[in-house]
Amino acid sequence: MTTTAEFHEKPQTSPELKALYERLAKKATAPLWEVLGDLVTPQPRPACVAASWPYDEVRSLIMEAAGLISAQQAERRVLVLENPGLRGLTRITPTLFAGVQLVMPGEVAPTHRHAASALRFVLESGEGAYTAVDGERTTMRPGDFILTPSWTYHDHGNPSSAPAIWLDGLDIPMVNMYCASFAEHHPDETQPVARVEGDALARYGAGLMPVDFTPARHSPILSYPYERSREALDRLLRNGPIHPTHGVKMRYVNPATGGSPMPTIAAFLQLLPKGFESAPYRSTDATIFCAAEGRGTTRIGDQQFEWRPRDVFVVPSWTPVTHRAQDESVLFSFSDRPAQEALGLWREQV
Ligand SMILES: [Fe+2]
Repeated sequence: MTTTAEFHEKPQTSPELKALYERLAKKATAPLWEVLGDLVTPQPRPACVAASWPYDEVRSLIMEAAGLISAQQAERRVLVLENPGLRGLTRITPTLFAGVQLVMPGEVAPTHRHAASALRFVLESGEGAYTAVDGERTTMRPGDFILTPSWTYHDHGNPSSAPAIWLDGLDIPMVNMYCASFAEHHPDETQPVARVEGDALARYGAGLMPVDFTPARHSPILSYPYERSREALDRLLRNGPIHPTHGVKMRYVNPATGGSPMPTIAAFLQLLPKGFESAPYRSTDATIFCAAEGRGTTRIGDQQFEWRPRDVFVVPSWTPVTHRAQDESVLFSFSDRPAQEALGLWREQV
């Protein structure tokens, strides 16, 4: 990658300027020319760094936490995947939060809602663990992509005999940047069931829409089952062509608009054939990846990360990325792309 000269070089200081700066500080003012080079950069300069979280390590830590704190006590028993370049800021990229959540057999995570939008990518679960959103429960199966859009009541329960573990992605840093956070509990720990399971998928996810439906900002589909998404990828792999950069890469959509499932977060599922080596790619949306199947290696800038199922890794903004799949592999990913697109900021280089 080319390095570009600074957009602005700091001018030489003088004793007179330093004396002025001291007086400026007392009046809540500051000289822009001292910081301009760090503010307006010729290309993105992410503090966010490339990093990975092997699942076996994260799983053993969250299981240890389960012995010390219940889901009810914690509100949400989540290990934050905190970017090493953004320590103390509770985020994996500048705009997104990611965490690994565990609900043990017999536990519930109480019903609440918040301004932040959330997605779940299910990592493991016994049959019967569920997320409920606005009165409908959906069973969580590995690989399912589940939404809890802004200000929708949601709770999680696990009546199965196995731990339920999933990757959480939220736009909390974005919401807080705008200072627009609201949150509250539902009067009931577990919200009442108002619709049968599968209602949203049948009503909105079959290439049909209710005749009087008005699209909202978020997708009306609650869960995008892995089985269906995986089958589509498999057919497209056989049909071809395979994109040299992306393999077979699809984005999850709001079926009523064709846009992203939620206004701030895009999510993708891509199939990489065995032996596939992707062409280099970069974009301004820092992206969180989670391997769903297979194994491979991803090069991010000058670092290399190996991955297996359920490992998470993050690619910072505008950092070149290439994937190499040792076996046929499926990668889930999410980013703030729709927010950047809405603001006219998003760029990519294929
Ligand atoms: Fe929540």
